[in-house]
Amino acid sequence: MTHRVTILPGDGIGPEVMEATLHVLDATGVSFEWDRHESLGAAGLEEYDNALPDHILDSVRENGVALKGPVTTPVGTGFRSVNVELRQRLDLYANVRPCRSLPGLDTPFDNVDLIIFRENTEGLYAGIEDYDEKSEVAEAIARVSRKGSERIIRFCFDYARKNGRKLVTLAHKANILKQTSGMFLSIGENIAKEYDDLAFNDRIIDNMCMQLVARPDEYDCIVTTNLFGDILSDLAAGLVGGLGVVAGANFGDDCAVFEAVHGSAPDIAGQQLANPTALIRTAAMMLEHLGEQTAASAVAEAVEDAYRNGNTLTPDVGGSASTMEFAEDLAQRVAERT
Ligand code: NAI
Ligand code: MG
Repeated sequence: MTHRVTILPGDGIGPEVMEATLHVLDATGVSFEWDRHESLGAAGLEEYDNALPDHILDSVRENGVALKGPVTTPVGTGFRSVNVELRQRLDLYANVRPCRSLPGLDTPFDNVDLIIFRENTEGLYAGIEDYDEKSEVAEAIARVSRKGSERIIRFCFDYARKNGRKLVTLAHKANILKQTSGMFLSIGENIAKEYDDLAFNDRIIDNMCMQLVARPDEYDCIVTTNLFGDILSDLAAGLVGGLGVVAGANFGDDCAVFEAVHGSAPDIAGQQLANPTALIRTAAMMLEHLGEQTAASAVAEAVEDAYRNGNTLTPDVGGSASTMEFAEDLAQRVAERT
């Protein structure tokens, strides 16, 4: 069977890590047909006068699966985040970000195994923001709906059950944000009663951050609203080797977009310095989603092997190999397994 997948390389380090990832996917022997689109963000504005052209949304809807690199969002001014808009327009409500320690990497803990479940379509990312010139006051409104909360919390519990996890922690700020976070927490407490095979607790977000950097091994699956999830997943990435190694996926009821946690990293773009591990592990999540379990495991195990061996790692994780040198080594390890 041939899988038709939308490929969105993005910008910054995106094209480099995408090339590396496609090289590794090639080595799995799984049959793919790539439906490739370059015009997202600034490139889309230039070519189509639209940072998120309709034909790209159509392609993802039609294929049901996309593999995406990062897209730069101007800070403070300019167009709205294409990444956020893509998730909202395709109703990709569940952002899943596994953060697991890799062998051979020198990090403060060697037993981290967290999955962050971030609500991906509402909260403070709803895009309701304005500035009143007269009073010189800026406002942003967080929109949290019952439906939006229920579906991400259920998604987390179902995923935890299906994958043999033990504990779900809900992170919130219900002491201060009594309506938005308060509702999210009370919905979580009710849903938790339906899953008596899983342990459940909750943490206020600031304490959650402290807990995670002090004793991450006490946590397992963490479900939270959009902004908290964005921040917690970078924090959790920092625990296991940084943004260069952490995968991610956006799931909706109709389609899925697989993208790493990291951004376009303009500071290292175009120099073969980027670590493609994050997007390669993201591709392993995609293989699993496509039912290609053998290939998914081969890629995941090859990554662990490469880190255990340590000779072909990129600079962000202490090595001196280029993006493509790491990918070549990994492709060989994958080919030996498939
Ligand atoms: P960033 O994730 O791009 O970079 C943060 C730091 O991590 C930088 O020092 C960078 O060099 C390093 N880094 C990130 N990925 C790496 C990799 N694969 N290998 C080695 N080092 C890596 O975050 P930043 O700088 O806050 O954002 C840059 C741009 O990316 C912004 O325009 C932002 O809006 C966008 N962005 C896009 C995302 C997406 O497309 N999903 C997600 C996050 C940010
Ligand atoms: Mg982020």
